Amino acid sequence: MKLRIETLGAQGHGVARTERGQVFVPFTLPGEVVNAAVERDRGTLMAVLEASPERVEPPCRHFGTCGGCSLQHQAEASYLAFKTERVAAALRRERIDIALSPIVPCAPGSRRRVVFGGRKTAAGILLGYHRMQSAEIVDIEECPIARPEIVAALPMLRQLAELVCQTSKPFHLTVTSTGTGLDLAFAETDKLPDEARRGAADFATRHRIARLAVDADIVVEHHKPVVRYGTATVTPPPGAFLQAVAGAEEAMTDLVQGYLAKSKRIADLFCGSGAFALRLAVGAEVHAVEADGAALAALDRGFRFASGLKRITTEKRDLFRRPMTLKDLEAFDGLVFDPPRAGAEDQSRQIARSTVPKVAAVSCNPVTLARDLRILIDGGYSLLSVTPVDQFLWSPHVEAVALLERPRKRR
Ligand SMILES: C[S@@+](CC[C@H](N)C(=O)[O-])C[C@H]1O[C@@H](n2cnc3c(N)ncnc32)[C@H](O)[C@@H]1O
Repeated sequence: MKLRIETLGAQGHGVARTERGQVFVPFTLPGEVVNAAVERDRGTLMAVLEASPERVEPPCRHFGTCGGCSLQHQAEASYLAFKTERVAAALRRERIDIALSPIVPCAPGSRRRVVFGGRKTAAGILLGYHRMQSAEIVDIEECPIARPEIVAALPMLRQLAELVCQTSKPFHLTVTSTGTGLDLAFAETDKLPDEARRGAADFATRHRIARLAVDADIVVEHHKPVVRYGTATVTPPPGAFLQAVAGAEEAMTDLVQGYLAKSKRIADLFCGSGAFALRLAVGAEVHAVEADGAALAALDRGFRFASGLKRITTEKRDLFRRPMTLKDLEAFDGLVFDPPRAGAEDQSRQIARSTVPKVAAVSCNPVTLARDLRILIDGGYSLLSVTPVDQFLWSPHVEAVALLERPRKRR
């Protein structure tokens, strides 16, 4: 079917209008005329009949089969405009009118953490990403978003997976490039028999893997994997959250640190292993709150071994079930919150009633961020800025940092 693409949808797929409704066609661009095989609201691109001037040659040979990237075929300026518009549209839906700050771009080859899908087959280990909207694994040779040391390790990772994976059950492998080498965490594998465990441990040691974990069980730790948060060094627990790109993390923490520079007592909610807390503690006491006890323990160790930081206290708390209350928040003159994709609706309701003068909201989901900002604005906060941050290159995902203040009440 011949289709004219009108816009890009939230998933980065071209959207065409037909008599039977919208059709989403991956790997197309607004203004293009394409031939697509259409089934219900999904189109499979067969041919580009009239190409957009924004169409560029994708840098990766796997683009189009691998489901990891959806926007490599779009020129940089219009790609960044699409991401910015995703944040702007979510804010408009909540009637939030603000000129966005320029988006922070993401360089190719900068992703320090990737999650590969894998499976053992008769022909060897498949290791790569899932085909778009499919469980099929596309075996990859290159990945221009990942750090070069991760791509270079692919043949070695396949050899290791041969030792770790005993059956053809699909598994995931999280690879993190750290200051002391690769940190590898297999998940959804069968239990390792003792002999296989010894073989995998020997292999990892010979290849100077910093740490090898299988389903959160640390098989071998040759060096402690480390990441730097400002002046502190942290060993994140296997599988715990880590910002995927160090440059994006720095851009976000710089914005928050600059904004809260004069605060003396800061709450860091959904703190993970301390990317914000350990930087903010250069100038303020920080109370760091998080549900993952192992991440908090890593933060605490990072704090104890660092020098020149003000005090950091930690609290293990489920902030969805038990948000920090109005009373809890009285102690702080600055606050940052960085929740998972679901956002922090109930926590925002408590902050909205509080007297905390400066609040920074960090989010990987523009829709829940906009909802939470609306709650804060309705509670009397003024929104000063929103900065989109591209952390997930060539995907439709976008992060944002919003800064808010509570204007002083006149007497
Ligand atoms: C987007 S990450 C941010 C982590 C940290 N700020 C960073 O930059 O590394 C969200 C964090 O929220 C934590 N989390 C998820 N659900 C939670 C809950 N119900 N209560 C408290 N923390 C939660 C996760 O463990 C994760 O560390």
